[in-house]
Amino acid sequence: MTPVRQRKYSLVTPKKVHLIAAARPNFMKIAPLYHALKAQKWCRPLVVHTGQHYDANMSDAFFRDLTLPEPAHHLEIGSGTHAEQTGRTMIAYEAVCQTDRPDAIVVVGDVNATAACAMVGAKLWIPVIHLEAGLRSRDRRMPEEINRLVTDAIVDVLWTPSRDADANLIAEGVPPEKIDCIGNIMLDSFEMLRAKITTADTRAQLKLTGPFAVVTLHRPSNVDAAAKLEELVAAIEKISEKLTVVFTVHPRTRKRLAEYGLLERITEASGIRATEPLGYIEFMNLVMHATIAITDSGGVQEETTYLGIPCATLRENTERPITVSEGTNRLLKPAQLAAAVDEALSGRWPKGRRPELWDGQAAMRAERSLRTRLQA
Ligand code: UD1
Ligand code: UDP
Repeated sequence: MTPVRQRKYSLVTPKKVHLIAAARPNFMKIAPLYHALKAQKWCRPLVVHTGQHYDANMSDAFFRDLTLPEPAHHLEIGSGTHAEQTGRTMIAYEAVCQTDRPDAIVVVGDVNATAACAMVGAKLWIPVIHLEAGLRSRDRRMPEEINRLVTDAIVDVLWTPSRDADANLIAEGVPPEKIDCIGNIMLDSFEMLRAKITTADTRAQLKLTGPFAVVTLHRPSNVDAAAKLEELVAAIEKISEKLTVVFTVHPRTRKRLAEYGLLERITEASGIRATEPLGYIEFMNLVMHATIAITDSGGVQEETTYLGIPCATLRENTERPITVSEGTNRLLKPAQLAAAVDEALSGRWPKGRRPELWDGQAAMRAERSLRTRLQA
């Protein structure tokens, strides 16, 4: 006979929560939350993939590494202009909400789907939660900054990764009671997979023996103008005389390198290993052992601070200033890269410290916040 308590649970309909993922950095943010919600009886998490990233090594590989289920809904949006991606996502996701209305929607990060799905949810009066709210680069030429501002202005609950993000929101007039500082959830993915990351043999696969740098670049401000990208390629060539450079080439960047006639300078240089985008486990294994990461990625700035690895961010600003003030990150110009590599090679780069609530427990705090807020 079924115990009374179990029977009582089976009578309660679990709350349906859509977790929206579109692009590579979203998968490691939804995975810990998916697993934390899945373990709860009050909740039924469903992954919605908008399909902005679709190559196997930009999407499927992450579902596999992070043990995410097949998406409940795949919107197959693909590539396009900002308006095309945002508009197509809104139209497709609105139709999903009309046939399979969720009790709550979690949007993550700052990609086009974040703003698009937040707008859909807000207009259908479905509670929307923004995971990674409150980050600001103060640079409105970045498409992501527009997505952050739009999303944070209309959502019901703002989950922030750090206290500086709370302060940004409060300065913009967001009522404090809508904000829960849950910490950095991306690092929960690292902790969830730490054992596999530690034992991965990426260095052997790439035949790396000595010190190496990991390079990732994909910001339009860096890669979408020939002169800027050429300057970066020249800086990377220069440091490849000091240590091996592993350049995991983002599809946007590959396209631009080819278009500007720069691809061979990366693929044929003796000190540079150009690779396809790597899976999460392989990539994080490389980061753990790198002398320095050279990047314009948001996630890599955070992961290197967490791991105490020197990080040179080739940008004029960052929406993650805590990685500079507390962690290992520095904003540099291409001309400053060689000196930075020398400093990292000599072991003089300060180790920094982990920001508060960057502890691998953010998903647990998010689950608690959601349960309370939905009164489940
Ligand atoms: C997007 C996000 C950015 C995020 C980045 C993470 C926005 C506005 N941009 O930028 O915030 O940091 O993802 O990687 O949402 N392409 C492929 N295969 C794919 C995906 C893209 O070949 O699977 C190529 C296409 O040529 C496409 C180009 O990459 O036009 C750019 O892709 P897109 O998704 O528009 O922007 P990202 O630069 O990836
Ligand atoms: N990443 C990966 N393989 C790669 C490059 C990046 O797994 O070859 C991971 C890494 O964890 C990083 C995350 O993808 O933090 C973020 O991706 P991206 O730089 O594309 O997006 P951003 O964080 O800039 O939005």
